[in-house]
Amino acid sequence: MNHKIKSLKDYIFEYQKSVDQPESFWSKIAESFEWQKPWDQVLSWDFEGPEVRWFENAKLNITENIFERHLNAHGDKAAIIWEPNNVNEKGLHITYKELFERTCKFSNALEAQGVKKGDRIIIYMPMIPEAAVAMLACARIGAVHSVVFAGFSSSALADRINDCQAKMVLTSDGNFRGPKNIPVKAVVDEALEKTTSVEKVIVCQRTSAEIQMKSGRDLWWHDAIEGQSINHKAATMDAEDLLFILYTSGSTGKPKGVVHTTAGYMVFSQYSFMNVFQYEQNDIYWCTADIGWITGHSYIIYGPLLSGATTLMFEGVPTYPHAGRFWEIIDKYNVNQFYTAPTAIRALQAHGLEPLEPYSLDSLKVIGSVGEPINEEAWHWYHDHIGKGNCPLVDTWWQTETGGIMISPLAGITPNKPAHASLPLPGIQPVIVDTEGNELVGNNVEGNLCIKFPWPSIIRTTYGDHKRCKDTYFSTYPGMYFTGDGVKRDHDGYLRILGRVDDVMNVSGHRMGTAEVENAINEHPKVIESAVVGFPHEIKGQGIYAYVICDMVGESEEKLNREIIDTVRKIIGPIAKPDQVQIVSGLPKTRSGKIMRRILRKVASKDISNLGDISTLLNPEVVDEIINGANI
Ligand code: WT7
Repeated sequence: MNHKIKSLKDYIFEYQKSVDQPESFWSKIAESFEWQKPWDQVLSWDFEGPEVRWFENAKLNITENIFERHLNAHGDKAAIIWEPNNVNEKGLHITYKELFERTCKFSNALEAQGVKKGDRIIIYMPMIPEAAVAMLACARIGAVHSVVFAGFSSSALADRINDCQAKMVLTSDGNFRGPKNIPVKAVVDEALEKTTSVEKVIVCQRTSAEIQMKSGRDLWWHDAIEGQSINHKAATMDAEDLLFILYTSGSTGKPKGVVHTTAGYMVFSQYSFMNVFQYEQNDIYWCTADIGWITGHSYIIYGPLLSGATTLMFEGVPTYPHAGRFWEIIDKYNVNQFYTAPTAIRALQAHGLEPLEPYSLDSLKVIGSVGEPINEEAWHWYHDHIGKGNCPLVDTWWQTETGGIMISPLAGITPNKPAHASLPLPGIQPVIVDTEGNELVGNNVEGNLCIKFPWPSIIRTTYGDHKRCKDTYFSTYPGMYFTGDGVKRDHDGYLRILGRVDDVMNVSGHRMGTAEVENAINEHPKVIESAVVGFPHEIKGQGIYAYVICDMVGESEEKLNREIIDTVRKIIGPIAKPDQVQIVSGLPKTRSGKIMRRILRKVASKDISNLGDISTLLNPEVVDEIINGANI
């Protein structure tokens, strides 16, 4: 594949070109893809709107760029290697040709069920090959997929279905996850009681659990594909037609549907994959994310498959049936590039070196990290014990909204510096601004991270609410995309991400809005008010700390504690469960009624040495009570 950067000199040259002449830079890269009709204009943009269009008026189908473009050269190469949850079950090698046939079959099945271009389809599935087929078939027929992580609760699922008015849900009878057997179909059934748009549910048989099939609405995957042809003519998509919606949490309100469109996302996911991981044609690449997150979209499915790579998909969890499972899989398949999250590294680090002993990990060439800042200790452990000191470690910074990796070393090319995401990819123009929006130039500066020029896979809108997109990302610093992250440029010009500067937490690499968790807690009938903050957590990066004012009449703290945690689990899902609940009689508020979260954050992190000025509080006495109740 062309356009692969091979040296630091190359990188510097390409980067400069991408800034000086972004249009010719990206059009050269885009030319290596297959287009049904070329573009009239490479880019038109205005961050005021915001309005960004890449490869205007071009026509294409992203799956033709995965399949038709590669089939002659490597139809028999494994596209997906699938490793099941259960070690005794046989895995699968699915070739490009087989994946194509499966995708065509399912595309035909979807059309037979009445799905049309532009319809929204929810995918609520485990990490099985059918989930990949589901995404690709949607893309093939021009339906917009919205994958919902299968650990979300029925009400979180219902919110997403309602927001995008999905016509169909693709799911499974149950999911195997570690020792658990999760009855997800029942979750879908419950969600559909709160929605009206869904006409059909297609259920993939995985666990053979006993489930309800609602007649007229539910059908089995195997019945749906029965007799369908293995050929399908791909829909013609406009460059800016929606490819997918992916919901993510923000600092306010309900999760928003981040919209990505076809051509720009295709070009950038492939380009970034190839360059960051330095994938070579016979490599086996493995990203441990779930397809419910953007990492799974861009770096399990689209980026690797567009590159003709072999991508490993793992159904299970890192510690089942033992804490060496990841390492066992790496040796079993001779994985060359391994991409995971700091939270997984820290969790495995806690098991010590013994689980590593049976494995050589010799095949590894590149290791990667994503989702949250990687602390130096975890960086070194990962680098020394997994990478054996000789694999470049790519600490990749990006977001659901950016569609692809923005700031990262290129493996083996950019010198490694622990805990630094390092340098921007070609085409990415990060700037550091102070709170007034002044650009901080030069080295040794710290501030808020913005991007000042569009890249091909930038968020286009938040589904159904363009103003929210503008307000969230393009209004804080007019003329720039604001990431919500703090960043430092060190004395060498390398970037280090410092974490969120807004009310968004990062729990085990999952983004979680404080307001969202508070809203869930407030659903408990005895809760009067709550305030949620993040605090440093050894394994999760950040944990969730909830301060809650309750009506205590006839209640015990212990029971309320349990019920509050359970309420959050039910409303959002297990990943949003507070680690700590503290019942308080009041929350520290300013005279204008704003909760002073700074104090709550300090107490939650057990750091009360310098609480700052609390004299402006309406109720300063509550601070002592909170400190006393916090077990510091
Ligand atoms: C937020 C985006 C990108 C896919 C997974 C998460 C944090 C992500 C890094 C990193 C420091 C990171 C940021 C960002 N983040 N990667 N390498 N170093 N922080 O996607 O759920 O959209 O979350 O994750 O805070 O804003 P997401």
